[in-house]
Amino acid sequence: MIKTALIGFGYWGTKLARNFQNQEAFNLMSIVDLNAKNLASAKKNYPLAKLSNNYKKVIIDRAIDLVVIASPTSAHYKIAKFALENFKHVLVEKPLSLSFKEVRKLNVIANKNKKMIFVDYPFLFSGTVNFIKKIINKNKYGKIVEIESFREQAPIRKDVNVIWDLCTHDISILTYLLKSKPCSVRTIKKKNIKGPFCDTAYINLKYPNNINVLIKNAWISPTKIRLIKIKFKKAILYCDENESIYKIRIYKNRSGEISNYNLEIPEIDLTEPLSKLASYIHKSIKNNSNKLFQNKFNEKITHLMEKINKAND
Ligand SMILES: NC(=O)c1ccc[n+]([C@@H]2O[C@H](COP(=O)([O-])OP(=O)(O)OC[C@H]3O[C@@H](n4cnc5c(N)ncnc54)[C@H](O)[C@@H]3O)[C@@H](O)[C@H]2O)c1
Repeated sequence: MIKTALIGFGYWGTKLARNFQNQEAFNLMSIVDLNAKNLASAKKNYPLAKLSNNYKKVIIDRAIDLVVIASPTSAHYKIAKFALENFKHVLVEKPLSLSFKEVRKLNVIANKNKKMIFVDYPFLFSGTVNFIKKIINKNKYGKIVEIESFREQAPIRKDVNVIWDLCTHDISILTYLLKSKPCSVRTIKKKNIKGPFCDTAYINLKYPNNINVLIKNAWISPTKIRLIKIKFKKAILYCDENESIYKIRIYKNRSGEISNYNLEIPEIDLTEPLSKLASYIHKSIKNNSNKLFQNKFNEKITHLMEKINKAND
């Protein structure tokens, strides 16, 4: 059993707790939070877990194998560093850190101490994105011409801007699907609400082979949108994560006709991505191999995220 400590029992921490608790391979031994109300809720739902408001005390416990970090983003680096220095594997919420330099440092400590870093980029474990990956790898509809991604309506963060909060999902998906990095980056940042950070962003990435990518991220929106459109030479694919079952629609070009399509709605694996992520972590620790995060995957994502944040139109 992988003895697990969870740091941060807020909105997302509760989902992580449920998914680790539900898998036999894990023992959710400790839950840490600074907020007494959240700890009381943890006690009610996980009566066997030890509760604490001090992550350091919990992490130094020799019994713990894996530390799951779901604190606010600004605390990820210091908690992950402390856990790796104390010979624990870590699962860190997205974004892993707000600096490429810090991600490099974490990788150095992980390598030195022979521990693994996992990051919760949930879409990499979703049936939709893995379905799209297969289509791309098989070159089923020809070359990709354009990708548009819209991510609107989400809780407003107090410690990071909308780009670090939402675009990390887009960049994790693009890095997973395309394997190349963009040749140019342009970002328009908007501040529509009071506060220190931009709450809306329009991002344009140009990838090799003339693949044009447009991303819109916005915290404020009357409707929740999680839509990716991929234009291939021979089809246009819509991936709508808000749909409960029919998340992917493929509009296949009819031969010789410009704007006539045949619609295909494929069957998608609807397993909860966090459950798949937990299984992946179990397998990786058991086999001492972390395929998804090899080849500096996290460094590539954070490096591009830094570029997007620094870029202007
Ligand atoms: N993967 C996803 O799709 C996804 C979705 C939502 C949030 N997140 C990420 O999860 C993280 C948490 O987001 P949230 O929405 O759950 O926020 P939240 O504010 O609801 O929860 C954070 C919790 O951490 C606790 N906390 C703060 N500092 C702490 C410390 N030093 N030690 C222990 N506990 C501490 C807070 O009291 C709070 O309960 C963020 O990094 C966010 O980006 C990821």
